[in-house]
Amino acid sequence: MRSSLRTNVPLGQNFGGRKPPMNKISFIFGTRPEAIKLCPLILTMQKTNDKLMTHVCVTGQHREMLAQVLDVFGITPDIDLELMQPNQTLANFTSRAIATIDHYLTTEKPDMVIVQGDTTSVFCASLVAFYHQIPIGHVEAGLRTWNKWSPFPEEINRVLTTRIADLHFAPTLTSKNNLLKEGIEEKNTVVTGNTVIDALLIAVEQVKKQPPVIPNLPNELQPKTSLDSPPLVLITGHRRENFGGGFENICHAITELAKQFPQTHFVYPVHLNPNVREPVNRILRTNEFVNIHLIEPLSYLPFVAMMNRSTLILTDSGGVQEEAPSLGKPVLVMRDTTERPEAMEMGTVKLVGTNRQLIIDEVNRLLTDKTEYNKMANAVNPYGDGKACERIIEVINCFFNKTGKTSCH
Ligand code: UD1
Ligand code: UDP
Repeated sequence: MRSSLRTNVPLGQNFGGRKPPMNKISFIFGTRPEAIKLCPLILTMQKTNDKLMTHVCVTGQHREMLAQVLDVFGITPDIDLELMQPNQTLANFTSRAIATIDHYLTTEKPDMVIVQGDTTSVFCASLVAFYHQIPIGHVEAGLRTWNKWSPFPEEINRVLTTRIADLHFAPTLTSKNNLLKEGIEEKNTVVTGNTVIDALLIAVEQVKKQPPVIPNLPNELQPKTSLDSPPLVLITGHRRENFGGGFENICHAITELAKQFPQTHFVYPVHLNPNVREPVNRILRTNEFVNIHLIEPLSYLPFVAMMNRSTLILTDSGGVQEEAPSLGKPVLVMRDTTERPEAMEMGTVKLVGTNRQLIIDEVNRLLTDKTEYNKMANAVNPYGDGKACERIIEVINCFFNKTGKTSCH
């Protein structure tokens, strides 16, 4: 079956000692978290592998936030599909992404397409690669909440991508088991760890050497602080299922907490989605609270430095749930479900939903009860050891060089 797929290297071919031709690996992505999790893989592939040639295709979905990440890793896209439109609907984005990626794959003819995670562009790129009969590698495969509506639309994006992909890079054993439950063959899955830890280790190293300065934040809140620096709650949010009432509750909880804890600072880099900005601006952008700081989305290194500076983190983000435990920071997750049970099981992450009172109570507990705080503030690393990229590359090499199966890992 594999031999019917288009590759430069017929599987099992012997090159008689000559250098085999390179395989072109196309990375298709569009959002900030995809970039954070794919950049270390692209860099490692470029630096360490002379058989795999990278082709970096960005969809343009998150123009500004993506550029911030690419700059940190020094990656220049080979092509930008310029798909972003203000306030695009999911169907509108999907239809334009499918048509444009179709054209891209027809022109570039890669030997493999790599996608990461569960955004709409992941599903679109996988579907179109399948139509072109190009093998697909899925990084961060197998995360599930088993709830079609949460996260929306990501749960269905990743289920559909799993059905289409050829190589499944599961970050943990739990995610690998989810894939097996759905009938994915074991030989096509491998537990690699999450590439976000590879990215985080690179970032932590850099911010240690040169702590960034965050614009529009007072000195005492900067990453480089002294022991008596005030407590800091870092906040992020962007999930579609929280739009409307969910975000309003979150904002009201923050104002209530800012009143209750005047010495604690609440720093919120606000996502660029207008559905997030509207309630945040309406409810939080008042001059009433000197301890609420609304700032622009931070570039990756400053954000990592702020996570490290924070006392605790309030978020609905997936990536932050994976990074913060490595930094020993308690995370309260403003969602009802999570596809990342590992840190919850270890006790460093807790679900609080978007219930205003629950958010207030749990932040309150962590800010006032040292024992509770210390229980959650464990530096554990359930998501990886920083070597996920190496493992993924090994499997891809194996796929092209030997049998076309992942069983050689
Ligand atoms: C997207 C992904 C989501 C991922 C999240 C990470 C989809 C459908 N959603 O959500 O899976 O978890 O990124 O952050 O793939 N906007 C800008 N500039 C930006 C970003 C957003 O202007 O850099 C505005 C635009 O008006 C856009 C809107 O936000 O229309 C929504 O952006 P979109 O990419 O559709 O969804 P996100 O909420 O960012
Ligand atoms: N992040 C960032 N700047 C910010 C907020 C988040 O660089 O201002 C990083 C964060 O470290 C994590 C990723 O963005 O790696 C998470 O992105 P997001 O929450 O948008 O998406 P999700 O992970 O939920 O898909």
